[in-house]
Amino acid sequence: MFLKNQKFYGRRKGRRISSKNLKLLEGYSNKFYLHEDQICKLVPYEYNKNILEIGFGNGDNLVNMSLNKPNDLFIGCDAYYNGCVKLLKNIADKNIKNIKIWPDDIHLIIKKFKKNFFDLILILQPDPWPKKKHKKRRLIQQKFLDDLNQILKFEGKLIISTDHHVMKSWVLEHLHVRKDFLWIKNRFYYTNIKPKWIFNTKYSNKALENNKVVNWFFFKKK
Ligand SMILES: C[S@@+](CC[C@H](N)C(=O)[O-])C[C@H]1O[C@@H](n2cnc3c(N)ncnc32)[C@H](O)[C@@H]1O
Repeated sequence: MFLKNQKFYGRRKGRRISSKNLKLLEGYSNKFYLHEDQICKLVPYEYNKNILEIGFGNGDNLVNMSLNKPNDLFIGCDAYYNGCVKLLKNIADKNIKNIKIWPDDIHLIIKKFKKNFFDLILILQPDPWPKKKHKKRRLIQQKFLDDLNQILKFEGKLIISTDHHVMKSWVLEHLHVRKDFLWIKNRFYYTNIKPKWIFNTKYSNKALENNKVVNWFFFKKK
């Protein structure tokens, strides 16, 4: 299922995974990987809520949220192989039943979901690609936001977090011009207060350990 999209710029693999672990997980991957032809068959109201996390990394948030909300469906997407394996291992160890993994680039499947399917989309700590010459590699682009808007339900939420100043400005700039996303804010456009029901991830923990501020942006579909 891997290496379909040659244009993916992030890291695909990290440390070597032992053959014992790989074998152990083979059976689970069949069960928990989302196959392309299954996407259009997903039934909108089979679960209480449908949640998509794009770029889940090691899957820390997905695992904790899915355990807390067993009646919600969680679809996680990341092309980072070692992260997918880690998530599969957690799913097996904790007997989780409500996560489906797309182990590849989100762009390959984003248009295959039914319109108005998701209640919530999470993008936690997306790669900032800080150099100007790499800005096309950033996940958040206007066309991508069009796609996200299509698959969100009316008043469905999009939540983005980042500790990077380049990504913070990028999010502000890109969402500010959108008429189809409403900012959910009190006084400011962003906050450093994490919702209690979202869990810290590898990258947010790293940022906090280095005394960096993690900024949170909340939007809903208009
Ligand atoms: C900086 S890491 C953050 C990981 C995790 N959310 C965290 O907070 O620890 C960004 C992640 O997004 C994934 N990613 C980037 N572009 C992606 C894409 N187009 N489709 C799927 N995953 C993507 C990367 O593989 C990487 O694991």
